[in-house]
Amino acid sequence: MPVEILAPDAEAITRAASHLRGGGLVGLPTETVYGLAANAADPAAVARIYDAKGRPRFNPLIAHVSDLKMASREGMFSDRALALVDAFWPGPLTLVVDLKETATTCDLARAGLSTLAIRCPAHPVARALIAKVGAPLVAPSANPSGRLSPTTAAHVAADMGNRIDLILDGGACETGLESTIIDARGPRPALLRAGTLAPSDIEAVWPGLIRHETDPDAPTAPGQLLRHYAPRARLRLNAAAPDAGEALLGFGPVANAALNLSPSGNLAEAAANLFAMLRTLDENNTKIAVSPIPQTGLGEALNDRLTRAARG
Ligand code: TXA
Ligand code: MG
Repeated sequence: MPVEILAPDAEAITRAASHLRGGGLVGLPTETVYGLAANAADPAAVARIYDAKGRPRFNPLIAHVSDLKMASREGMFSDRALALVDAFWPGPLTLVVDLKETATTCDLARAGLSTLAIRCPAHPVARALIAKVGAPLVAPSANPSGRLSPTTAAHVAADMGNRIDLILDGGACETGLESTIIDARGPRPALLRAGTLAPSDIEAVWPGLIRHETDPDAPTAPGQLLRHYAPRARLRLNAAAPDAGEALLGFGPVANAALNLSPSGNLAEAAANLFAMLRTLDENNTKIAVSPIPQTGLGEALNDRLTRAARG
């Protein structure tokens, strides 16, 4: 039976919430990418997520909350962390904090860690669903582990359709790149994953951002795993022009692009298009070349995803 894809009206959200309370999995729109949601307190449901994604169980999940009150039951927020919450929640910022005694997020969701990654998504459907359940939802990106993240309900149906109960269709994701992950436990913030929220925005609220050297064998956030976000096709970056047999994924006013992330060179537009365009090119090509993308603002996160995708 094909998975149900529902317009996210009140009735659909009520149905999704009852699926989740019963241990089911729901495809969930967020402003970044689509998530595969389960009740964070339910180890059996969380186990189904790891199985559905083929995700290693040492790779912990993000607990999604509908507000700071819910977040404060799960984790301990320093004054500095609260300043980030104040500035950027709801939104594409995930904070890693120490777990609180009152937390309900299960061990398996945290991969046994004593820390917890928490985010409050801005997408109204995501927040409405979490509020309806009344408890945190874990929601990794709704793709098989290591592959391209989904930015439409159709991507989720194609990747995960036979393994989930329901997909809420919230339209195409607004930003198209995952949340920025900050370790907010120490005296200085540490960037664990580049994402939609620019490092300069973090710095403006809490200066002194630490950028860890990426150790591929011991990732602090396994989003740092070197081969991640991978299409099947071979990817060549910083290409001035396509070679024979390559499809060009362009950026800016370039000639001969099969698809263009942003003909005007707009980084936000490029981020919103990245995963969907890679998917489309991946379907019909074995070699993809990508135009150079400047390493400024969102370009850092874009180049991060492309570099990981290109590693073979
Ligand atoms: O934008 C997003 O964050 C999306 C949407 C669906 O919310 N979610 C997402 O989840 O990207 P996922 O599971 O694909 O990536 C979560 C990342 C992983 O790299 C994981 O290693 C890291 O968060 N993470 C989770 N808990 C952590 C913790 N306690 N300490 C460090 N990293 C953690
Ligand atoms: Mg992911």
